Amino acid sequence: MFTDTATSTAGTVLENFIVRDEDLPEFKDLEFEDINQLHLDHPGANDTEYRTRRDYIASLAKRFRETGEITDVDYTDEEQGIWRHVAGRLEELHEQHASPFYLQAKHDLGITTERIPQLTEMNRRLKELTGFRLAPIEGLVETRGFLSLLSYRTMLSTQYIRHHSRPDYTPEPDIVHEAIGHIPMFTNPSFADYSQFVGLGAKIATDEQLEELGRLYWFTVEFGLVQHEGDVKAYGAGLLSSYGELEHAFSDEVDRRPFNLEEVINHDYTYSDMQPVLYVIPSYAELKEVTKRYIESFQK
Ligand SMILES: [Fe+2]
Repeated sequence: MFTDTATSTAGTVLENFIVRDEDLPEFKDLEFEDINQLHLDHPGANDTEYRTRRDYIASLAKRFRETGEITDVDYTDEEQGIWRHVAGRLEELHEQHASPFYLQAKHDLGITTERIPQLTEMNRRLKELTGFRLAPIEGLVETRGFLSLLSYRTMLSTQYIRHHSRPDYTPEPDIVHEAIGHIPMFTNPSFADYSQFVGLGAKIATDEQLEELGRLYWFTVEFGLVQHEGDVKAYGAGLLSSYGELEHAFSDEVDRRPFNLEEVINHDYTYSDMQPVLYVIPSYAELKEVTKRYIESFQK
């Protein structure tokens, strides 16, 4: 399904940014990483009530894959409380360190510190702004499947929220990471096109190129910094959804280097550590352009 590119070279598909509903792939064959059980070190691993709730929210994502319809989650007071706690604390740091585009986008999408936003409402705004869309998922899927969906201007998004015992921590993506970290940036036309290029690349990449794309994604979509009027600001989801990471990114412990695609795609990182090196893009448009040229070099 994700390998059925209609074209044999990247170059010919890179011009088409519009994805109609009827162009979307089937979601049924997505391959999941081994996440059926919460890892033992997950704060909710031994909480039966939490696990039951997670299973219920997972059933909504499964239903989406059968019907194509997204079901809104009836978040509980406790879940809303976790959101208010985390979103409220992040808000102050965002004012200081987040990219101005991101701050505006969060506002435009109606993402507030008051309540957990629904994928359906964010989808309505995204459709108007860049034609990007969110599809619910209950956990991590394989890299190629996840990245390839970006070629359809589609991001898989979790809906569940982290465990109440550790509201400042999650070992996996949750709705805080998605809605505060990832989703606002998809309202940026250049960033949306850039994401689509990464997706188009993932569909035709060799295994080695897929690893390169994974590193590019990591140092941009997750941990990216951007120039803004002589200053450096954050736009990466891993930074914007974690106060620890965001504070660290602007500390003296981090080497903030100018973005260089060749260096980034070859830069190994450790998933679980704070990042000692981050890359600063000059602009989202520039990121899109260098990535386009890079993807066009695939299969030549
Ligand atoms: Fe992420």
